[in-house]
Amino acid sequence: MRYVGQELPESAVPAGRIRAAGVERRFGRGASHIHALGPLDLDIEAGEFCCIVGPSGCGKSTFLRIVAGLVKPSAGRVEVTAATRNPAAMVFQNYGISPWKTVLANVRFGLDLRRVPRKEADARAHEWLVRLGLADFADRYPAALSGGMQQRVSIARALAVEPEILLMDEPFAALDAQLRTILQDELLEICQADKRTVLFVTHSLEEALVLGDRVLVMSARPGRLIAERVPPFARPRTGEVRRSPEFAAMQAELWELLRGEVEQASAQEQEQDHRQGHKQEQEKKKEEVAS
Ligand SMILES: Nc1ncnc2c1ncn2[C@@H]1O[C@H](COP(=O)(O)OP(=O)(O)O)[C@@H](O)[C@H]1O
Ligand SMILES: [Mg+2]
Repeated sequence: MRYVGQELPESAVPAGRIRAAGVERRFGRGASHIHALGPLDLDIEAGEFCCIVGPSGCGKSTFLRIVAGLVKPSAGRVEVTAATRNPAAMVFQNYGISPWKTVLANVRFGLDLRRVPRKEADARAHEWLVRLGLADFADRYPAALSGGMQQRVSIARALAVEPEILLMDEPFAALDAQLRTILQDELLEICQADKRTVLFVTHSLEEALVLGDRVLVMSARPGRLIAERVPPFARPRTGEVRRSPEFAAMQAELWELLRGEVEQASAQEQEQDHRQGHKQEQEKKKEEVAS
């Protein structure tokens, strides 16, 4: 993991770049270790919106965490090139916001961490509240908000620090289908307004095709890249692309590739449950013998 500073002309909106080479991750040791990810090679250009689709358990979150510097790869390396001191911010599926803070304080969180003066931090946070339709909720607590609103808070919080790279881990997976569509459309608008680099992980092909400049498909564990498509929809685009014939065709084509991986991942999950069950049983027996 290496962050490389880079000089950019004053006028350019800074956007980070990601280079991953031979990235692998294993968890645990010995016979029961899990080869979660890789090897994976991936270059994401500045300003690109890159979507990764893969079955559950294939290492998507692990890869995002490696890019964020939260997890070390077991092999290979990731290089993030950023011009500013705000390389990456992350948005999670379960919102990741603090229930004891108001909406405004949640959005200001990253700015407070960076010791941005309160007045400026409030102004910047407020700007993002407005952009996400949250202005009327500034003084509320998250518990009073719907799931969709909470996820908007989480997105506003990530964007308030003006990160060069936005890392999104299935951010809409907990929302119902209609709300998901609305938030996808909002994200399209936000990300087309200022071009930052986005790495967006999802298990929904539809979501990936609506949002992405590029869609990458991952295999079942250990997750590797098995396909890459460029949705043929010009920018700025809207959710209208969902209704185009090319959209349906590409979704069907990618599903053919993904289907087998999903089946394999589901079998792996069953086996993992079985192994865990077996281990628990053994531990119980040991306890019984000991008592
Ligand atoms: N900290 C960890 N310790 C042990 N196993 C882990 C850990 N994190 C993830 N795994 C395992 O690695 C695999 C990939 O996990 P993850 O990256 O969360 O997959 P995804 O996000 O694609 O669903 C899974 O089998 C998961 O159980
Ligand atoms: Mg995940």
